[in-house]
Amino acid sequence: MKRRITIAIDGYSSCGKSTIAKELAAKLGYSYIDSGAMYRAVTLFAMQNNLYKSGALDTERLIPRLGEIHISFRFNAERDASDTYLNDQNVENEIRRMEVSEKVSEVSSVKEVRTKMRTLQQDFGKNKGVVMDGRDIGTVVFPDAELKLFMNANLDIRALRRFEELKAKGDTAGFGQIKENLVKRDYDDTHRNEDPLTKSDDAIELDNSDLTREQQLNLVLERVEDLLRLL
Ligand code: DC
Repeated sequence: MKRRITIAIDGYSSCGKSTIAKELAAKLGYSYIDSGAMYRAVTLFAMQNNLYKSGALDTERLIPRLGEIHISFRFNAERDASDTYLNDQNVENEIRRMEVSEKVSEVSSVKEVRTKMRTLQQDFGKNKGVVMDGRDIGTVVFPDAELKLFMNANLDIRALRRFEELKAKGDTAGFGQIKENLVKRDYDDTHRNEDPLTKSDDAIELDNSDLTREQQLNLVLERVEDLLRLL
């Protein structure tokens, strides 16, 4: 039997990480874990429990409550994808809302939140055969991953993709607001003290601005096949 590997996909917001991650996982029979969904679920928990003071996250009240947060993924046959659950509630749609996108950077910059998420993520990937996307997967969560990708795409293309994705779900966020949110999250993700987004030295850079989904998938699958031949 072929050896199973770990595939870590990092990069900026909305540059197609989850698209390629899901396609790779389906092709290889691996599981796909969306680590961003986990930070979004913690953000939703903070919002639902009003852990904010004068509009800012009240870290001192969030940290002692982290033990109450249980995140899991369950396959949804209708969508042919996994839904995110927060304490046994399906929150897949809610965590994609613009309001959550606007608050998630603050939550994901808290050290204790990151430690908890990292432990969970490492546990999800302990048997290999996993594709995980996020911001620190190849650098912090799985530094020994056999394949690391670092993705990017033109800002306008990324904003348009997110705009269309949200519109399809009935979210009324405008293109300008979405673009502004992406610029802010890029800045926050690359400048935070805890595990900032950086390209791991051994990651392959992939700019998919001018690639079709199919071209991108084939390119990455070739790398996977090369790797599996060598193992
Ligand atoms: O992938 P996404 O846009 O759904 O992620 C939401 C936010 O979560 C992103 O702005 C930064 C944070 N995040 C993180 O800090 N580390 C990860 N591994 C994944 C996401």
